[in-house]
Amino acid sequence: MIVKIAKEAGFCFGVKRAMKMAWDELEVNSDEIYALGPLIHNKQAVSKYEEKGLVTVEKVENVPQNKKIVIRSHGVTEKVYKDVKERDLHIIDTTCPFVKKIHKIVKREHDKGREIIVIGDRKHPEVIGINGWCENTATIIKTLEDLKNTSFDKSKKYCVVAQTTINLDLYREIKNQLSNELNHVIFNNTICSATKVRQESAKELSQEVDCMIVIGGTHSSNTQKLVQICSEFVNTFAIETKEDLDVNLLKTYNTVGITAGASTPDWIIEDVVNFAKKI
Ligand code: F3S
Repeated sequence: MIVKIAKEAGFCFGVKRAMKMAWDELEVNSDEIYALGPLIHNKQAVSKYEEKGLVTVEKVENVPQNKKIVIRSHGVTEKVYKDVKERDLHIIDTTCPFVKKIHKIVKREHDKGREIIVIGDRKHPEVIGINGWCENTATIIKTLEDLKNTSFDKSKKYCVVAQTTINLDLYREIKNQLSNELNHVIFNNTICSATKVRQESAKELSQEVDCMIVIGGTHSSNTQKLVQICSEFVNTFAIETKEDLDVNLLKTYNTVGITAGASTPDWIIEDVVNFAKKI
């Protein structure tokens, strides 16, 4: 069986960087290190880090004083930084630089008196974090329907930013409508290309193989999106680990393509690749 791997699969730059920073700290510390929220939405990866001494907590108050706290790649509110300082914690800030850039824009423009609009999902940790840089005053728009139901003050100045993982077409559509509606508005396209690049690689590979394997969490929306894209071209198997593979079924294919969602670590991808190569 020929096994091909998508050019871009698994962790994006920001998550890879964050996971490495956390791992490096665990390697040099014998003491426990605390993560504010799950480091990543991948059971296997979280267990590996927990075995090494990572403890996941929900609030800064749950971390004993003077300990180390990891801020994950999604970023956090300005208040979290203040709380961390007040508790004398040592911060390991793995916030993705692209998200950090959004925090800076939001804080700067809010301080100048502009109203902030975030195009994104209000429940997503990244958006919660962004909103915290303008004292939680942002108007958050996830859909065109939301936009229709939101009223704006035309005499005010606005600044628009986007959650890094939202769809570019949606951003463009909302941007068009807001440009017509508002008199003073600046737009910042802060969408990160990592998701799109991963999807395009999956699409490309799906057209060269007899079947596709998509590795990722069953609840991960970006993994499900990859499954959907690949299924348009070939039979596609969604798995979390190599144990989920149906070997007999796989044997009926000559060429298999492999891709993985944004929360799938390299070692799980390698595991599946090595396993498939032996079939
Ligand atoms: Fe990843 Fe950072 Fe983009 S976390 S998706 S590289 S914004």
